[in-house]
Amino acid sequence: MHIPVLLKEVINFLNLKEGDIVVDATINGAGHSKEICGQIGEKGTLIGIDLDQKSLDEADKELKHSKCKVILQKNNFRNLDKVLEKVSIKKANAILFDLGFSSNQIDKSGRGFSFQKDEPLLMTFKENPAEEDLTAREIVNNWEENNIADIIYAYGEEKFSRQIAKKIVEIRKEKWIETTMDLVKIIEKATPNWYKHKKIHFATKTFQALRITVNDEIGALKEGLNKSLNVLEKDGRLAVISFHSIEDRIIKQFFRNKKEENIGTIITKKIIVPNRDEILKNPRSRSAKLRIFQKN
Ligand SMILES: C[S@@+](CC[C@H](N)C(=O)[O-])C[C@H]1O[C@@H](n2cnc3c(N)ncnc32)[C@H](O)[C@@H]1O
Repeated sequence: MHIPVLLKEVINFLNLKEGDIVVDATINGAGHSKEICGQIGEKGTLIGIDLDQKSLDEADKELKHSKCKVILQKNNFRNLDKVLEKVSIKKANAILFDLGFSSNQIDKSGRGFSFQKDEPLLMTFKENPAEEDLTAREIVNNWEENNIADIIYAYGEEKFSRQIAKKIVEIRKEKWIETTMDLVKIIEKATPNWYKHKKIHFATKTFQALRITVNDEIGALKEGLNKSLNVLEKDGRLAVISFHSIEDRIIKQFFRNKKEENIGTIITKKIIVPNRDEILKNPRSRSAKLRIFQKN
């Protein structure tokens, strides 16, 4: 079961009223949405977006007996404006992004997100990627060494990015890199021994970087945030929970820029993080950061 992160805090800061229209841009199993629905009541409307059909099915089941009106849409949140247009909603009182993926999604996709299973090296959010869709396999087998190193550094913050890219290019001359385990073995060879005994697995950062690149997660986040502010009502609030520093920096900078443009106010002068109790109950929450913005 996915436990919603910072639930009390999100609900407190979203300032919800009965009858509000709320967009949950990453609904997953409706952990936050269930509570949101309770707050906005039967006159309220919840629009839940997710790019994963299984998550939407789960949300549908979870929200079956809730009071508010529920509209579920399979889409990327970068198309938030089009989703709302499609369901004839012009403005929202609150929008929530709870970024990332549940461990269930990562483990069960069969598309190579996890370095602990031997699977085809795809890493696409799309279940059936088309011929022309970018995959992790395409990046490691065809991109130039420098470009591979750059993304591993930028989106993985991996200090051995150059060594890993070099080894990838060396090995692929002999053999096409096909599966997650092919790549794990390359990273293992490219990094020093002490790196294998750290708390986080030596392949974590490279895998994160490839996933972010394949799915243009940074582009989607920037687009999604911009579109949210366009559809937010005056005094409406945008809440964003992120789990790694690359995303958090983007959100922080986005809020600062929008404040300077006089579009709204940063509500969370200090970021909100889970307390010890929450981290003990739900270790996945330990890296969560919540930021809130209010539109003028
Ligand atoms: C951490 S989960 C959200 C959990 C949810 N708040 C809850 O408590 O049940 C993130 C969800 O966002 C979805 N997601 C990630 N990137 C997305 C994107 N660009 N567009 C739409 N959904 C996305 C994932 O499929 C996943 O279901």
